[in-house]
Amino acid sequence: MTSNNLKCMYKFIALMTVALLSTNNSSADDYEDEVRKRLGLKPQVQQVSAETNSELESSSEGRSGELVYNQGCAACHDAGLAGAPLYADDTQWEERVQKGLELLTSNAYNGYNAMPAKGLCIDCSEEEIKRSVEYMLEALTVN
Ligand code: HEC
Repeated sequence: MTSNNLKCMYKFIALMTVALLSTNNSSADDYEDEVRKRLGLKPQVQQVSAETNSELESSSEGRSGELVYNQGCAACHDAGLAGAPLYADDTQWEERVQKGLELLTSNAYNGYNAMPAKGLCIDCSEEEIKRSVEYMLEALTVN
C-alpha cells in the first residue's frame, strides 16, 4: 500500500466518521424523514400509544357513577354479599366514610379484603371507580 493510498483511506475513514456522527445527533428524525422522502415513502405518522388513549378517555369521558354501580358494584353492595357494606345503609358506612373519598376510591380501585379490585369492573378507570364511590356516598345521610 503506497502512502498515497493510506492518506486516501484515512480521509475516507474520517469522512465516514463525520457522516456517522452527523446522523446520530438530535436531527436523526429529520434525517429519517429525508431518507423516506428520497425513497418515495410517506413520512412516518406518530403513533398514539394505547396508554395515552385510555388516559384521555378516562380523564374526560367514561361512564357515570350510577351506571358503573348498577353494572357491577350493585351485585354485592345491594345484597351485602360477602360482607359488602349495603348501599344507602348509614350504619354500615358510618366508619368507612371517615376514610374520605380518596382512600375509599383507592381501596375500591386496588381491592380491599373481600372487596375485589375495581369491583370486578376490569375496564373501569380510576375516575369511573371514583364516580361510583361518590354515587354510593351520595346515598348516605352521614358524611
Ligand atoms: C364481589 C363483591 C363486590 C363487588 C362486585 C364490589 N364490592 Fe365493594 N366491597 C365488597 C366487600 C366484601 C367490601 C368490604 C371489605 C372489607 O371492609 O373488608 C367492600 C367494600 C367497599 C368499599 C369500602 C372500602 C373501605 O375502605 O372501607 C367501597 C368504597 C366499595 N366497596 C366500593 C365498591 C365499588 C365502587 C364497586 C364497583 C365498582 C364495588 N365496591 C364492587 C364487595 C364487593
